[in-house]
Amino acid sequence: MIDFQSILNAIAKTAANADDRGLIAGYIPELATIDTYKFGIHLIDIEQRNFSAGDSDERFSIQSISKVLSLSMVLGLIGESLWERVNVEPSGDPFNHLSLLEMENGVPRNPLINPGAIVVADILVSLLDNPKEDFLAFVRKLANDRTINFDKKVAASEKVTGFRNYAAANLLKSYGNLVNDVDTVLDFYFHQCSLSMNCNQLANTFFMFINQGKCRKNNIFLTTGQVKRINALMLTCGFYDEAGEFAFEVGLPGKSGVGGGIVALLPNRFCVATWSPGLNDKGNSKLGMLALEKLTTETELSIF
Ligand code: DON
Repeated sequence: MIDFQSILNAIAKTAANADDRGLIAGYIPELATIDTYKFGIHLIDIEQRNFSAGDSDERFSIQSISKVLSLSMVLGLIGESLWERVNVEPSGDPFNHLSLLEMENGVPRNPLINPGAIVVADILVSLLDNPKEDFLAFVRKLANDRTINFDKKVAASEKVTGFRNYAAANLLKSYGNLVNDVDTVLDFYFHQCSLSMNCNQLANTFFMFINQGKCRKNNIFLTTGQVKRINALMLTCGFYDEAGEFAFEVGLPGKSGVGGGIVALLPNRFCVATWSPGLNDKGNSKLGMLALEKLTTETELSIF
């Protein structure tokens, strides 16, 4: 059996000694204060054995990782009709770019770039009685953890500086691909991105993606087919214009966030979450990517 604990310990040690740690996301002022020396990692295997190292119990803002959770909720509610409003192709562009959206008449390339996630948010705002509360309840159920919450300060901070997201939402609205008003949809979107979790909670929340759509308590959230689709989207679109590099170096479906978190998984084997707040120039956690490359290289476990 693979000794995951020793590998995680070695990864955390390497990360603690790294000089080049990347840069914190400065465009959300509330995130700019986080210590770049933080590093955490947590792995849960299919038998629900848990392994962790470093600052794995410290909560951080999961940001774009939340896009996978909102997508999961929407797919569970409306199924395939989602694809009439969002495409499933990698964009090759940064997460907040708008040019393709204009060229492609307001249909976002995929649900993991900002415009795509804003369309998903719009659908949830239409479908849910109390959108923010209902989404939070969904995530808590998935995680089997009632302590998970939004970070209201982060949500408010992003609202003040979210100019590009306002631009994206207005562009979507001009093409008729946003039903609700821009402020309501973005208020939901900024809250979903502000979800605060530690590596342990994140890996446990994503357990269903290695377990055919069933959470740790064996409750069914998605069909096997829906899990296949979401994992495919994570592989091809989860790291924006660095999706190729992540597949090349790590070889797993995964999703990053500008809070410095990454979650990655090997279906039927394990799910792993890392946190290191410094980002590379594509907006993905610098040490998180290095850590996951080390994990899949040393264990020789990847989808390839
Ligand atoms: O909308 C934004 O810009 C942020 N709330 C989320 C961006 C993000 O996490 C990109 N991922 N690496």
